[in-house]
Amino acid sequence: MKKALISLTLALVLVVAVAACGGPAPTATPRPIATTQPAAAVQPPTLVPQMPQQQTSGKALYGEHCSPCHGAALTGGTGPALSAAGLSKYGTAQKLFDKVSKTMPKSNPASLATQQYYDLVDYLLVAQGLLKPDQTVNADTLATISLTQ
Ligand code: HEC
Repeated sequence: MKKALISLTLALVLVVAVAACGGPAPTATPRPIATTQPAAAVQPPTLVPQMPQQQTSGKALYGEHCSPCHGAALTGGTGPALSAAGLSKYGTAQKLFDKVSKTMPKSNPASLATQQYYDLVDYLLVAQGLLKPDQTVNADTLATISLTQ
């Protein structure tokens, strides 16, 4: 009987020991690796070539301040047509700029800002094929643009 008690105690100790060791070790759940992917700059495809900013501005200014006399399509009205031939006779963008910025709009000469006159000259020259659309008219480039048809 005593022997039986000892073996029972041993058995209990064993059971407790096994239980303490636990079953299979808890497996650490792998943490999702933080992926720091830079957000891809999603840009819509440019299907239509965009009008450079200076021309957009020049066109708007022309519509407001010049077209009443020179016509929406530069074909003239109370003022002369602003044709490629008419513009290129100024020889350089600088001379055309001087003419426009000092005497136009005829009804209110020199009333616009310098930058607005740059934009207007850019618009006129590009519209008449005397300047490439990606070229900019400003204080630095004025003298370098020659007006040849
Ligand atoms: C109130 C009418 C009127 C408005 C507004 C006007 N113009 Fe004129 N423009 C004229 C007249 C008239 C002439 C011709 C006489 C002269 O050169 O001064 C002329 C001449 C010009 C010429 C010279 C053309 C050439 O063949 O030599 C240019 C360039 C011109 N204008 C640009 C502009 C621009 C740019 C604007 C807008 C900022 C403008 N004009 C607004 C009446 C106008």
